[in-house]
Amino acid sequence: MRVSVIGCGYLGAVHAASMAQLGHEVVGIDVDAAKTDLLASGTAPFYEPGLPEALAAARATGRLAFTTDPAAAAGSRVHFLCVGTPQQHGEFRADLTYVEDAFAALLPHLAPGDLVVGKSTVPVGTAEALAQRLTTTGATLVWNPEFLREGFAVQDTLHPDRLVYGLPTDAEGEPTADGARAAAVLDEVYAQPLADGTPLVVCDYATAQLVKVAANSFLATKISFINAMAELCESTGADVTRLADAIGYDDRIGRRFLNAGLGFGGGCLPKDIRAFMARAGELGVDQALSFLREVDAINMRRRVRMVDLAREVCGGSIVGLRIAVLGAAFKPDSDDIRDSPALSVAAQMQLQGAHVTVTDPQALPNARAAWPGLAYADTAEEAAADADVVLLATEWPEYRRLDPAALGTVVAHRRVLDGRNVLDPRAWRAAGWTYRALGRP
Ligand code: UDX
Repeated sequence: MRVSVIGCGYLGAVHAASMAQLGHEVVGIDVDAAKTDLLASGTAPFYEPGLPEALAAARATGRLAFTTDPAAAAGSRVHFLCVGTPQQHGEFRADLTYVEDAFAALLPHLAPGDLVVGKSTVPVGTAEALAQRLTTTGATLVWNPEFLREGFAVQDTLHPDRLVYGLPTDAEGEPTADGARAAAVLDEVYAQPLADGTPLVVCDYATAQLVKVAANSFLATKISFINAMAELCESTGADVTRLADAIGYDDRIGRRFLNAGLGFGGGCLPKDIRAFMARAGELGVDQALSFLREVDAINMRRRVRMVDLAREVCGGSIVGLRIAVLGAAFKPDSDDIRDSPALSVAAQMQLQGAHVTVTDPQALPNARAAWPGLAYADTAEEAAADADVVLLATEWPEYRRLDPAALGTVVAHRRVLDGRNVLDPRAWRAAGWTYRALGRP
């Protein structure tokens, strides 16, 4: 099938390559020529494991092209909207400018029977408003949220946990005739994952839009829950990692997303819970989501607490001290620094008088551009040279595997802060380090 993918960022670039791999003929469209040029040459514009291989495989089939020309969407049967919806400056609400611009650019190129498939995370009500504007074109809107995780984006797109189709519905909540036709077309698009047994949930627009923000709110709540427990552990001498293991054995709770530490960041969870609260306020049901304020507050407190812990471990002040921060990306296997807890803590320490040197296996170019005031080093050893404190802020595998004895020879003082609770305290203490972590004695 001929499909267009509008917006070629973390979501769209992966989606375009994956759709070509599933056998479709794909054109990726983005306003950023630098991005489309890179993608057209087979280069991923950001670090995502598996994406270069997916692009190469798709290019070899000759079924994947990229352009800045919105007219290239004409002739495609399905148009995926994959643009970003960042937090609006100075507000909790989502900024829908990119959705609006992409939709307006697409409109003149739609033909009757086309599908416009929204994948971006939007405030509930957005799909209904966009669908209204399609009536004169004869195209149908479907809301088909994306749940991909950075670092696993290709795998999550080709083998999703579930597919959700939000369709136009009648008064009884059943899909309209256009909705049923649209679902049949999407079944063709996703024939492979459906044949693999991927569960499919068919629903109305509102439910489909809510599924995405509900899922991300649940994940954020789970992380903040364990971080709240970490605060209690800190005041009682308990160990949050053991606590998480113990409650995680209960299948109803589950161990995943119970890793306490510096908390969540990135381009999704923080802005999605805030946009969800803002939307609930507009709908007059803000009380329903008031707990998300607490989820957000617990999360942000972890960053402040880490700076306090650094001060504590250094005898009351970090002024003039050298601090090595291992990790800049918001999580491992990504070069994404949007709302990164690692950089947020690094910047706070620097502002409070420390000399901070940051390292990261992939995110240094992005970090340098966003935080030019921090110092940077290529490796953990270089960052840690003469350091008074080493902070592990992003749990890249190479930082988890660091040898405490070897690293101990380059630092000025053997003090380590484990911001992700991934180091073995016994091994580090045995090598003469003062080991401290959030939520652990
Ligand atoms: C998330 C959702 O997982 C995904 O389904 C959605 O489509 C987009 O948002 P992503 O932002 O890529 O994906 O990252 P995720 O793996 O969810 O991690 C988010 C943040 O939570 C990271 O900063 C991570 O370090 C942190 N985290 C995760 C914890 O602090 N503890 C945990 O136990 C798990």
